[in-house]
Amino acid sequence: MNEETVFKPCDLVIFGALGDLSRRKLLISLYRLEIANLLEADTRIIGIDQYPFDNLGFIEIIHKSLQEFLNETLDEQVWALFSARFSYLKIDLTQMDQYPLLNTVIDGQSRVMVNYFAVSPFLFTNICQGLAGCGVLNHESRMVMEKPIGHDLKSSKAINDAVAEVFSEKQVYRIDHYLGKETVLNLLALRFANSIFTTNWDHNTIDHIQITVAEEVGIEGRWDYFDKTGQLRDMLQNHLLQILTFVAMEPPVNLEAQSIHNEKIKVLAALRPITKENVERKTVRGLYSAGDIKGKSVPGYLEEAGANAESTTESFVALRVDIDNWRWAGVPFYLRTGKRMSYKRTEIVVNFKQLPHNIFKESFADLPSNKLIIHLQPNEGVEIQILNKIPGIDENIKLQKTKLDLSFSDTFKNSKIFGGYEKLVLEAMRGNPTLFLSREEIEQAWTWIDSIQDAWAHTNAAPKPYPAGTWGPEAADELIATDGRAWEES
Ligand code: BG6
Repeated sequence: MNEETVFKPCDLVIFGALGDLSRRKLLISLYRLEIANLLEADTRIIGIDQYPFDNLGFIEIIHKSLQEFLNETLDEQVWALFSARFSYLKIDLTQMDQYPLLNTVIDGQSRVMVNYFAVSPFLFTNICQGLAGCGVLNHESRMVMEKPIGHDLKSSKAINDAVAEVFSEKQVYRIDHYLGKETVLNLLALRFANSIFTTNWDHNTIDHIQITVAEEVGIEGRWDYFDKTGQLRDMLQNHLLQILTFVAMEPPVNLEAQSIHNEKIKVLAALRPITKENVERKTVRGLYSAGDIKGKSVPGYLEEAGANAESTTESFVALRVDIDNWRWAGVPFYLRTGKRMSYKRTEIVVNFKQLPHNIFKESFADLPSNKLIIHLQPNEGVEIQILNKIPGIDENIKLQKTKLDLSFSDTFKNSKIFGGYEKLVLEAMRGNPTLFLSREEIEQAWTWIDSIQDAWAHTNAAPKPYPAGTWGPEAADELIATDGRAWEES
């Protein structure tokens, strides 16, 4: 933690306060923090958008949208506390002469201004210049932004350069909401607070690792955005690579942001490039066709509202990833993620090596290897698959596959598991950058992803179809089967 972690009351300024991201995620998370009594009494929330409302009009809209997006009944007592923090300013973010309005509400002396950019990245430069021009920022001000931070290395650099003209790297908080998830953070605890894992976490004991992020949802009315993006950029460039870095990194010297960033960057730099020479062997692109999910028919990607039937964007991707360093030499990581799969399931499966010799042939001709399964969502938990003797007095020892199962909801009954946003918004207000992405990390990740995109463009192969409600195209099974392995069953 750095000196900035001293809590100073905060003005959270949300640019795009009436937009989708703000109403669906941000304000819901802030409300949940309010319920949990985690918002400082003095914290204020200042909404900025282009629509002509006064404070009361704004509060009314937010009240309605909480009722719409919250999966529980709004607690009117908490709402009274929460809404008292709100004020609203109408600013057209493209008009520099409107930014000085901020000076009427911001007090940079005794409060920290945290600017949350919940708008399309094409407005980032305008907002940065507007803020700098009206003199409302100081060295304590922060800015928070989310993906997409570009769609390739070049565009990502352009956004980061524009931001860097106004905010120093220390003031920039780049969100990947997976880093706020309980189970992703728990990877640090699991790996670096338990000696059984610190000593059994490399090519000597591990055969391979699988990371699956399967989504049940489709593209949720975002066809335009998604079609320009695809699953590789939408999910793998950020969320899956972030999980990968937590699984693969060396022990950081401490929990300081810089120490963790350093280790993550080393992993990203060691990813073996996927190029046109090996792209067909190491990647599978898929696209969902119509199918059934939990008994309900859903349309295919090309039949979604607003779809262009000629699209060749992928909604599924599976990769074999190699990390060229001492720890992971010869240990492949298999990553897969897709939309409209059987059900929502995010997990990491660490497959340990088989034993060199089997003395239990009576039970198993081939002894199954141990597995550590980390369930990230929806049911957070950690499971270890082991072999155990079946109790009894038979002549021969008989074994059975069984598991040590730690379910978070059963074990930590009195602790609330928050979503990623709650944790990250709070950390941004507290000034703790540990769980945010550095510029270098993002650019390193794009360098690796760009090479895959270029290789795909070169081979020009269309994505392989898979019916909605399945685990992706058959080619994804073949990708791993070629190495004599199989995906973890559902
Ligand atoms: C977002 C992607 O970053 O993550 C969405 O843009 C995706 O396409 C979502 O659906 C998944 O997040 P979660 O937390 O539901 O796994």
